[in-house]
Amino acid sequence: MPSKVIVGAQWGDEGKGKIIDILASQADLVVRSQGGSNAGHTIVVDNETYKLHLIPSGILYPNTLCIIGNGVVVDPKTLLQEIEMLKSRNIFNAQLKIDARAHVVMPYHVVLDELSEIARGKSEIGTTKRGIGPCYMDKAERSGIRMCDFINKDIFEQKVREIISNKNQIIEKVYGGRPLDPDAIIEEYTGYGKLLAKYVSDTTIDIYNAIKEDKNVVFEGAQGTLLDLDVGTYPYVTSSHPISGGVCVGAGIGPTLIDECIGIAKAYTTRVGKGPFPTELHGEIGDRIRTAGSEYGTTTGRPRRCGWFDAVIVRYSVRINGLTSLAINKLDVLSGLEKIKICTAYKLDGKIISEFPADLNDLSRCVPVYEEFEGFHGDISNIKKYEDLPENAKKYLEAIERECGCKISAIGVGPERTQSIDKY
Ligand code: GDP
Ligand code: IMO
Ligand code: MG
Repeated sequence: MPSKVIVGAQWGDEGKGKIIDILASQADLVVRSQGGSNAGHTIVVDNETYKLHLIPSGILYPNTLCIIGNGVVVDPKTLLQEIEMLKSRNIFNAQLKIDARAHVVMPYHVVLDELSEIARGKSEIGTTKRGIGPCYMDKAERSGIRMCDFINKDIFEQKVREIISNKNQIIEKVYGGRPLDPDAIIEEYTGYGKLLAKYVSDTTIDIYNAIKEDKNVVFEGAQGTLLDLDVGTYPYVTSSHPISGGVCVGAGIGPTLIDECIGIAKAYTTRVGKGPFPTELHGEIGDRIRTAGSEYGTTTGRPRRCGWFDAVIVRYSVRINGLTSLAINKLDVLSGLEKIKICTAYKLDGKIISEFPADLNDLSRCVPVYEEFEGFHGDISNIKKYEDLPENAKKYLEAIERECGCKISAIGVGPERTQSIDKY
């Protein structure tokens, strides 16, 4: 298995955690390269559910080294809670490393995320309120705190004292919020720094050496292509680069070291948060998909908006990420519907367009052009071979391949590790 990048091909929550857990069984390294605890990746093994936000989804395998790369923003409190959760379930094996250059999500980032969302009023983004945007803002503004600073007590204290008065002015004077106490932050977070120090090192060396030694490396994408800061549905995006190109920056590797890019999509479309969603289903079918697919956010518990599979979006993801194959999850959720639809193009002001528009004004006026398929029926969740899927399900998957211009390598028929069918 060469080095593989796994990315979300839609708006996140495509079942990346499940696929990464499956690939991790043969991986030496699993590496997160962007995002933070806004991610919520679910793994189900023998009816046990694990929800991970920061720790890579390879952690269930004792011999797999899990790396939180330089491009991730790390909330130390959430990370320690996650480590404790795994320890309490006898999982955590200390095969975890955090890059010294990764930035730290501080309490003022979380407060500013909440306050700026309130201030936006009706134009809110619908963030996860995990402090992600404000932390990346500080990184770009060069006032962030990195893990190497965080675990050095004196430098950390000095940085917090330098930064806090400016943050408190914004909290109080711009947003009318309550200022934070620097002494309390320094005390609490110095304690977290002590606990996390043993995991911190230059992980770019481990990743480079592993690839050079022909080891199996999986790069775990968080969020999805349409949440990318550059190519996503801006401003309704996250503040990092969940696309395959983001891996090079966020893991500190060159593009020549990546062999495969696998895009994960659902057999339909979901999104949490605000912003245009052309194939969104507001009535009974949308509710049925939400219920059958348990479409509620892993991080925030918010109901996910549901709609038909949008091939315009996934085709765009194939191009932007240079995908070598697609994994289509949650096919089982569509079973029992009389008809199923794929959006193959949009109608915009009377014209048919086949490319995903950059302008959100245009996107919000796009009307989907659908191809309709006969539904498939019965419980498909125990099927192990592609040939055994109902004929109508295979027709649907083949149409996805045709419309997206990319082969499907795996199909998900249930949340368990074992419920995935290899197509090739
Ligand atoms: P991620 O953020 O991309 O890792 O996805 P989430 O974990 O947020 O959401 C995906 C949800 O779908 C989780 O509850 C998974 O357990 C579940 N899931 C993944 N693949 C399948 C599948 O093929 N069928 C069904 N029914 N559920 C799945
Ligand atoms: P995983 O890795 C789905 C969405 C939020 C919001 C926007 C910005 O589980 O697929 P942020 O808190 O990042 O500033 O919020 O991005 N969002 C996600 N949606 N899955 C995710 O992660 C997400 N991470 C962020 O809902 O619309
Ligand atoms: Mg998720």
